[in-house]
Amino acid sequence: MTHHHPNILIAPSILAADFSRLGEEVRAVDQAGADVIHIDIMDGHFVPNLTMGPGIVKALRPLTKLPFDCHLMIDNPETMIEPFAKAGADWISVHIEVCDLATLLPAIKKLGCKAGAVLSPSTPVEEILPFCALADYILVMTVTPGFAGQAMLPDCLDKVRALVRYREKHGLSFQIEIDGGVNLDTISAAKAAGPDIAVVGAGLFGTKDYRKTLQMFKK
Ligand code: DX5
Ligand code: ZN
Repeated sequence: MTHHHPNILIAPSILAADFSRLGEEVRAVDQAGADVIHIDIMDGHFVPNLTMGPGIVKALRPLTKLPFDCHLMIDNPETMIEPFAKAGADWISVHIEVCDLATLLPAIKKLGCKAGAVLSPSTPVEEILPFCALADYILVMTVTPGFAGQAMLPDCLDKVRALVRYREKHGLSFQIEIDGGVNLDTISAAKAAGPDIAVVGAGLFGTKDYRKTLQMFKK
């Protein structure tokens, strides 16, 4: 059986939103039909950029009922999973490059959140396979983590295909999320690889009519 996703979930990345109007931007994409809010957490060490902490997550929490998908691009993520869970994260993902997934994925679940494992473009997909049974979702980076608005690295979509095959072969049920460079030009190639969820930053927040853009992503 092949998984076909005519209704891919779209997760707007608020990294590409207008930070001076962050609350309004969250409400706007919620009302426009977003499925999940993707929140990029960067520490200036694991990636050369610094973004949001648990205080921002907590401040945004009352504005929407949509799940908060916190993507931790930080060193020592084990020190921050609890603060983000308490602030209102529903999903928390951590990078395989900087932590012991065998410990951290169960710890995230224990906090009541969905647990995601992320791999950067330079990490081979084989490295994540042993953790697929422990994860609620695998986040495949399709750009080098650090900044919104980069061009998609299309080779990373082969990892999505490999994960779809692995999931089928082993009867697993983790979801597959892609992150980076998804826009109206790349969405069809991205969808063809078979992800369940697509993060969209500049490709949504850079457009005028969020509702119309979201409809086009889902078509
Ligand atoms: C990159 C972040 C992505 C990014 C997506 O480090 O993890 O979530 O903000 O933005 P776009 O869609 O503009 O690549
Ligand atoms: Zn992200």
